Formats: sequence, structure tokens, C-alpha cells
Amino acid sequence: MAEQFLADVVEGLTRDPKSVPSKYFYDRRGSELFERICELDEYYLTRTELSILSRHGRDMADAIGPGCLLIEPGSGSARKVRLLLKHLRDPVGYVPVDISTEHLSRWAARLGEDFPGLYIEPVAGDFCADFHVPRVPGVKRRVVFFPGSTIGNFTPSEATAWLGRMARLTGSGGGLLIGVDLKKDARILEAAYNDSRGVTRDFNMNLLVRLRRELGADVEPDRFEHHAFYNDAEGRIEMHLVSSERQTIRLDHTEVELERGETIHTENSYKFDLDQFRFMAAAAGWRRCAYWTDDERLFSVQYFEVA
Ligand code: SAH
Ligand code: AVI
Repeated sequence: MAEQFLADVVEGLTRDPKSVPSKYFYDRRGSELFERICELDEYYLTRTELSILSRHGRDMADAIGPGCLLIEPGSGSARKVRLLLKHLRDPVGYVPVDISTEHLSRWAARLGEDFPGLYIEPVAGDFCADFHVPRVPGVKRRVVFFPGSTIGNFTPSEATAWLGRMARLTGSGGGLLIGVDLKKDARILEAAYNDSRGVTRDFNMNLLVRLRRELGADVEPDRFEHHAFYNDAEGRIEMHLVSSERQTIRLDHTEVELERGETIHTENSYKFDLDQFRFMAAAAGWRRCAYWTDDERLFSVQYFEVA
């Protein structure tokens, strides 16, 4: 894991432009900061998706049907799945998959206390790689539950490839219930990633803290600033760490020079139109059966089946 982290960071920092994969935000502190982001006024995504799930959870459960095995890549605190489990008929099991291992076992254990009859098998790992899905007897349908608009953290070609893998993983009759953030006024989007309390800033900076602590990198987080903006042409929020001066990061046997104002691109968060997402999923083998949004059309939850 540490070797892969080092290899990915060296690869990203020696590229032009420089980048680090966003999955490395999530160590213990990164996961805690993300939970705090979810509570922020500006970060409309979580509360809007929760309200859609609360309002339409029963319809979603009806669409999925009885006897499903729910697989949740990037399960985090597994808060949203509760709103679904409440309505699902005889779910056979729940498989949360997350890279933030401590966080994963803590929240899976809590869920187990609240849903004592449910078979839960947490899988620690990277959902971009092949991950193990247990064979549980009596499963009528495998359903991937992917809320939070985490799909937006992939580029469109990565997203299509990943959705294709999920179609193969669930197989014939498989389902996908996915949270997708929608395009909207750039001011609302930019506020969500530049909150007034600086929690998103700390979340972004935590990447540098990890480089120091886990990879022994010689890097000073104070010499960077958080920058997040909406790139209209690409339809995505971009997060960067901007170097406030000319400096050198040293890690392993690599020296990385940064000019003043040069950035490390740390995350993309794509925003979609309803049709655009349907087409993208169709290219990966999914047919949309239903979707739900809030009254302001800020966010959507969409249900697909393998075509
Ligand atoms: N599903 C939750 C959490 C979303 S945050 C929600 O909707 O609120 C993204 C989650 O995905 C985090 O818990 C993070 O640890 C996890 N994650 C990000 N990239 C990952 C990867 N490549 N593999 C596994 N988990 C990942
Ligand atoms: C997990 N992911 C969908 C979040 C997002 O909105 O792209 C991560 C995040 N980055 C900054 N704030 C939240």
C-alpha cells in the first residue's frame, strides 16, 4: 500500500501538469474532514442526496426488488445506505468497500448493530482495482450502490470504464443505484468547494501532511494554498494546491521543482446533465430505469439495470 502510494505520487508529481490521485485524501484524518465537509452549509450535495433518499427510498427499494446483495464502493460512514435498507425487502447482504480501512471497520460495525440480521462483509481496498465480492447464497440481484457523486471524481473515460466493470461485476439482472451531482450556477458549485470555515482547504492540505508523514517527503504544507474553481469547458470543479513560492519537494530519490503559482491538481469533481449521464452509463452497458431529483434539481439519484 505504502509502495503503491509512493509510486503514484512520484508518477503524478513528475508529470506536467503535476497531480496526485484524489483517492489519497482518505486516511483517518481525511475521512474525518470529509465527514465535516458533509455537514457544511455550502456543501449542498450530502443533505440534498439524503433528502432524495428519504423521500424516494421506498420507490428505489421497489425498483431493486427482494433478495439483493448491495455492494457500496466508497462507503465512508455508510449513512446513506441506512435509508435504503429501511425499505429493502429481504436484502441478503451488504458489502462496503473502502480505502480508508479504520473508518470502514468502525462504520460497518455500527451498521451491524443497527441491522442485526443483515450479513455484512467489509472489503478494505481500492475500488479502482478488482475487489472481492463474497458469494452469498440466495442472492437474486447484485446491486452497486454508489452515492455521493463519487463517480464525478473519475474522468469521463475512467468513469465509463469503471461503470463497465461494475456491469460485469453485477452480471445479468444487475442493478446500479448512483448519486450524480448536476450542473448548476457556478457560484453554488464554487462555494461548495471553498467553504468559509476552511474545512475543504484542510482536506486538500491533508494530502501534503500525508506525504510528509507516510512517505517522509520534505514538503511544507504552509507553502501551499488551496484553490478550487469550476472549469466550465470541462464541466468540473478542479481542486489544486498552489505553490506560494519557488520550492523543491524531495521524496524518495526524487526532487520535484515547483515555480511560484504552479499547482498540483488534486481532484476533479465532474457535474452532469441528466441526459449526459444516461448516455455515459449506456456506453458502459447500463439502461436507466428511473431517476429522482430534489425540487431545485441540484442533485440526482439514478437507477440502472444491466442492458
Ligand atoms: N459514499 C459516501 C462517502 C463518499 S466520500 C457518501 O456518499 O457520503 C468517498 C469515499 O470513497 C470515502 O469514504 C473514501 O475513503 C472512498 N474512496 C475514495 N477513493 C477510493 C478508492 N479508489 N477505493 C476505495 N475507496 C475509495
Ligand atoms: C467524494 N467526492 C464526491 C467529493 C466531491 O465533492 O468531489 C470529495 C470532496 N472534495 C472536496 N469536497 C468534497
